[in-house]
Amino acid sequence: MNRFPEDFLWGGAVAAHQVEGGWNADGKGVSIADVMTAGGNGIAREITDGVLDDKYYPNHEAIDFYHLYKEDIQLFKELGLKVLRTSINWTRIFPNGDDKEPNEKGLQFYDDLFDELLANGIEPVITLSHFEIPFHLYKAYGGFKSKELIDFFVRYAQTVMTRYKNKIKYWMTFNEINNQADGQHDLHTWTNSAILFDRHESQAKKEEIIYQAAINELIASAKVVELGHEINPEFQIGCMMAYVPVYPFSSMPEDQMAALKVMNRRFFYSDVHVRGEIPNYIVKEWSQKGYHIDISQEEKKVLKEGTVDYIGFSYYMSGAVTTLDEEGGPIEDFPHAKWLSNPHVKASDWGWQIDPVGLRYMLNILDQRYQLPLFIVENGFGAYDAVENNQIHDQYRIDYLRAHIAEMKKAVLEDGVNLIGYTPWGIIDIVSFGSGEMEKRYGMIYVDKNNDGQGTLKRVKKDSFHWYQGVIRSNGDNI
Ligand code: BG6
Repeated sequence: MNRFPEDFLWGGAVAAHQVEGGWNADGKGVSIADVMTAGGNGIAREITDGVLDDKYYPNHEAIDFYHLYKEDIQLFKELGLKVLRTSINWTRIFPNGDDKEPNEKGLQFYDDLFDELLANGIEPVITLSHFEIPFHLYKAYGGFKSKELIDFFVRYAQTVMTRYKNKIKYWMTFNEINNQADGQHDLHTWTNSAILFDRHESQAKKEEIIYQAAINELIASAKVVELGHEINPEFQIGCMMAYVPVYPFSSMPEDQMAALKVMNRRFFYSDVHVRGEIPNYIVKEWSQKGYHIDISQEEKKVLKEGTVDYIGFSYYMSGAVTTLDEEGGPIEDFPHAKWLSNPHVKASDWGWQIDPVGLRYMLNILDQRYQLPLFIVENGFGAYDAVENNQIHDQYRIDYLRAHIAEMKKAVLEDGVNLIGYTPWGIIDIVSFGSGEMEKRYGMIYVDKNNDGQGTLKRVKKDSFHWYQGVIRSNGDNI
């Protein structure tokens, strides 16, 4: 075979909170994304204690997909998408998270959205939790530190999986669950687990809490996998990971060891999702550091019974570590190792290292480690776009995507990797997760809105739109 399989899932990806807006429409509750202000390139977003009148929250309106989705779906259809990956915004369904009954208007919105997609030949692929945890669950329970969130998540998942059991086949539980390992605890533990740390908390205490929250999420995920298969045995339920291959900066054996250790901290999450067991390297770490992680025998059984069907993952960049005496950022746990930029690859305007070969490398590593179907559910290039005469000539985005698709092709056609689909990120311009900017654009469809929230919201096809249309039409032959 020298072509992608005919049923390869070419698509695009977004997340509810980054496109929908309608933050308090039709009974929706406040989510953690609704209390994040706009930051900027290199400027962190602020997390406020509730929604404050004098702050600007870019996700409140986003690109108003909540009201404009029908027009957008026509563009997605013209583009040729076979699937659209998005998420269900938990707070549309359970506004506080611990409500006993779901919000019917929220459920109806997703019925309408999925019907519209399906009527236009586009299959929805759904993430259950993409940084949209109810704010109330942070306030009242401290987020996923608390085991009570396991049942709230399961109730939410059961509600939507039952309601949409004939409309959705591919599900994912927690978006980029392993990002919590990367040390940017404020942003990632907030968005993945609804945990905000006290400034005075020690690094070790924080880490212990993150591991506890992660275990609670992994248990919740496993319960949902099992339950989902009962609701509809045809469901394919995956995890969703952020994979950043970490290279040894030099050929020194110590650098190789540091890279392996750093990667293991990220693999821990997929190792549990896939194998249903806590790997020895983590059990050792916990005991060496004196961490007490609460997990019962019964919960260990749950992990074993709810292993995932496939691995969904995002791929944007690679990284490098060294034990040499070089300039660079410290790595927790490896006091003599440091992160530093790889001189062999270029970076985006946001400093993300562009490495298409790293995608092929990662696909091979995952195929060998897990032997499960793989699904690239995010890959893309955040860049500043210029509009000239109502046109956007985004050759840089085409170059990025083309290079990554070329390497993905090699992984499938030359290396034999079992890859089921590819949904580039931010198929339409959206609010950036990390910075809250509108002007960090990923889309193939431009949205007229700037970082201050001004603009007409008008949609314009970029050059990359026409290019990707050709890629899908030719099933990846013409890139
Ligand atoms: C991933 C997230 O981290 O990367 C998305 O799943 C996010 O939600 C994407 O938007 C790109 O990151 P950013 O910060 O450029 O929006």
